[in-house]
Amino acid sequence: MRLASLSLVSVVASLAFVQGTGTDDESIERGRALFDKAFTQAEGLGAPEMNADSCRACHQDPAMGGAGPLELNVSRFARDNGGAGPFENLDGGQGLSKLYPPMHPGREEHPEGPDGADVFEQRQTPSVFGDGLIDEIPGIVITSHEDTLDANGDGIFGVARRIDVNGVIEIGRFGWKGQVPRLADFVNDAMMGELGITTPDNGRGFAGLSDGDPVADPEISQQDVDDMTAFLKSLPAPARGGSTDPRVVEGLGLFHEIGCAICHIPSLPGPNGPVPLYSNLLLHDVMPTDFRGMSEPGAPSGMFQTPPLWGIKDTAPYMHDGRAEDLQDAILAHYSEAEQVRQNYEALTDRQKAALILFLEDL
Ligand code: HEC
Ligand code: HEC
Repeated sequence: MRLASLSLVSVVASLAFVQGTGTDDESIERGRALFDKAFTQAEGLGAPEMNADSCRACHQDPAMGGAGPLELNVSRFARDNGGAGPFENLDGGQGLSKLYPPMHPGREEHPEGPDGADVFEQRQTPSVFGDGLIDEIPGIVITSHEDTLDANGDGIFGVARRIDVNGVIEIGRFGWKGQVPRLADFVNDAMMGELGITTPDNGRGFAGLSDGDPVADPEISQQDVDDMTAFLKSLPAPARGGSTDPRVVEGLGLFHEIGCAICHIPSLPGPNGPVPLYSNLLLHDVMPTDFRGMSEPGAPSGMFQTPPLWGIKDTAPYMHDGRAEDLQDAILAHYSEAEQVRQNYEALTDRQKAALILFLEDL
């Protein structure tokens, strides 16, 4: 069953209908087939060293559209002069993943980085279920939870990712660093970044327009991009487990009591009702102080967007690079802004810890 995103899907698809390209369901089905499709080089697939040949190859757990295995982590590379700074992108940016599959899954190191790269960051494949609902959460809802100066003195800040799109500032919602504002932008971004497929220029700056292979650009049509977006928007939010174990209720209480809910806010208001994502969609630094990773304008090294926790039981391993194998490891991997909250967790009794984990597994 589709959820509240249905109305938006209908709007998008009824536009397509006006253009004579079929109903919303047909658009979603075409998008589903594209997500599942293994592209060939004759169709423009980047090069043999791409990580994968389809969207589905990475987004597959527990179903198509879900999360991905460690072996398909994407790696980024840059220079930070051994950690002393300044941070510098390599020529051509950080997206050199395809040439350098991870040597040590879940770790930052790579023995021979390109162009003198000495800082590396792996990124895990997140699930895209429910992203249609996140797409609709107004930017002002996200910025309303910012605490850039830690005005309440709890050691937790929280800043929205701001992205300049043709001189207009938009709020980032997707990607580990919140680097992409809208779901449709991610379709363009992923087509180029993951598959090396060029898409038409919609003027927003997320499409790869040319890639130097012999296939004529754009390699897919705007209709294809719209179909893929309609498919992603149709993917429902993960359903609650619905456990009746009383410890789940106890776990919910602890989640609030020890401070998890400060960042993992249970729900944000969307145009069609509450979106129970368990995130504030803000950037926080929860990495250890010696962490070295990618820096982007508005998102320095170590800053990651609070990930939604809905469906979390199905998307192990955890954290941006998959450094945590299970949910307890993920909690214990929280430092810096979450230092106090992690210590609160460590101080719980074994029974309470188990209740908190049971609650997370029910989301
Ligand atoms: C090689 C594995 C891989 C392939 C192939 C891949 N993705 Fe992803 N996907 C990722 C990773 C890794 C991220 C996180 C990227 C980041 O934040 O740096 C991601 C993130 C996303 C997100 C954002 C999810 C969120 O909630 O933040 C969307 C949407 C997405 N991908 C769609 C697609 C589509 C559409 C395709 C096919 C065109 C695709 N992906 C192909 C690995 C992959
Ligand atoms: C200061 C804000 C903050 C607090 C407090 C916080 N988290 Fe997080 N949490 C984050 C961020 C940011 C990440 C992503 C880190 C990364 O990508 O490496 C994260 C990641 C996670 C993940 C992994 C999600 C995934 O998809 O990989 C889980 C599970 C999690 N947190 C649960 C909790 C629980 C339970 C608590 C309370 C004990 C908690 N968090 C407290 C900000 C916070």
